Amino acid sequence: MKVTVVGAGAVGATCADNIARKELCEELVLLDIKEGLAEGKAQDMMQTAALLGFDTRISGSTNDYSKTAGSDVVVITSGLPRKPGMTREELIGTNAGIVKGVCENILKYSPNAILIIISNPMDTMTYLALKSTGLAKHRIIGMGGALDSARFKYQLSQHLGCSPADLNAVVVGGHGDTTMIPLIRLATWNSLPVSKFLSDEQQKQIVNDTMVGGATLTKLIGTSAWYAPGAAGAAMVESIVRDEKKLFTCCVALENEYGQNDICLGVPVVIGKSGWEKIVSFDLSAEEQALFSKSAEAVRSMNDVLKTL
Ligand code: 2OP
Repeated sequence: MKVTVVGAGAVGATCADNIARKELCEELVLLDIKEGLAEGKAQDMMQTAALLGFDTRISGSTNDYSKTAGSDVVVITSGLPRKPGMTREELIGTNAGIVKGVCENILKYSPNAILIIISNPMDTMTYLALKSTGLAKHRIIGMGGALDSARFKYQLSQHLGCSPADLNAVVVGGHGDTTMIPLIRLATWNSLPVSKFLSDEQQKQIVNDTMVGGATLTKLIGTSAWYAPGAAGAAMVESIVRDEKKLFTCCVALENEYGQNDICLGVPVVIGKSGWEKIVSFDLSAEEQALFSKSAEAVRSMNDVLKTL
């Protein structure tokens, strides 16, 4: 098994680090446009192998895509990160060109790869990857909901005083501060509805804090977060390479599921060796469905910007 992570910034390097620690592949390539960055980080990570006890071989490359040849899974993190006060949407112009070029280069050498998109604005970058490559829809997966659902569980755990691992909670819709929809109505604590333990006020707070989770960190750190985004990408890689069939909320091409078409948006999907293998549909409440349609509208108008670039 061979995995490539494009972009050796904080998110890409953290994702690669998680992949190596879990030994998800024999060969892992980290690629970046900045001279020496990927080689340096790959070597640094390799020097943890003796300490952490993993056997994945990690190598770095400055923009030489021939080194990525034959990758089974490719995680794309390239592009500018958010600065404090910036929305993910403001990155569209710059990141669209970068992501399109990366997809082309990757597919030249790894025509059968499954692509995981992390670059922002993630919903639009996933749509762009789908349209520009013409790949089968199952091979393109945007990471957003996997991360947002983990952040949702973190917020819930803080109020419940419980282990995040005991929670089941999903965020659907777009990966934007105003487009994501944390489905608190359906969240459970080891199968017990969380609404039984939280006041309406607390529930509102949790939903709100989840939605601005990324922006809160950007403000604190001064740039986009990386631990949870990198770990979310690695968890998706794991479900693919081990064919785990785990249920993640991810950004995928919708063809009339949840009432939407010609758009990539976050919905629950089963992830296995073929990429995203099926969309799990369930009934949203009227209010949730209205939020989902609004989220789709916002993402669609961002996708329209692609036509003007
Ligand atoms: C975030 O929400 C990187 O979009 C990512 O932190």
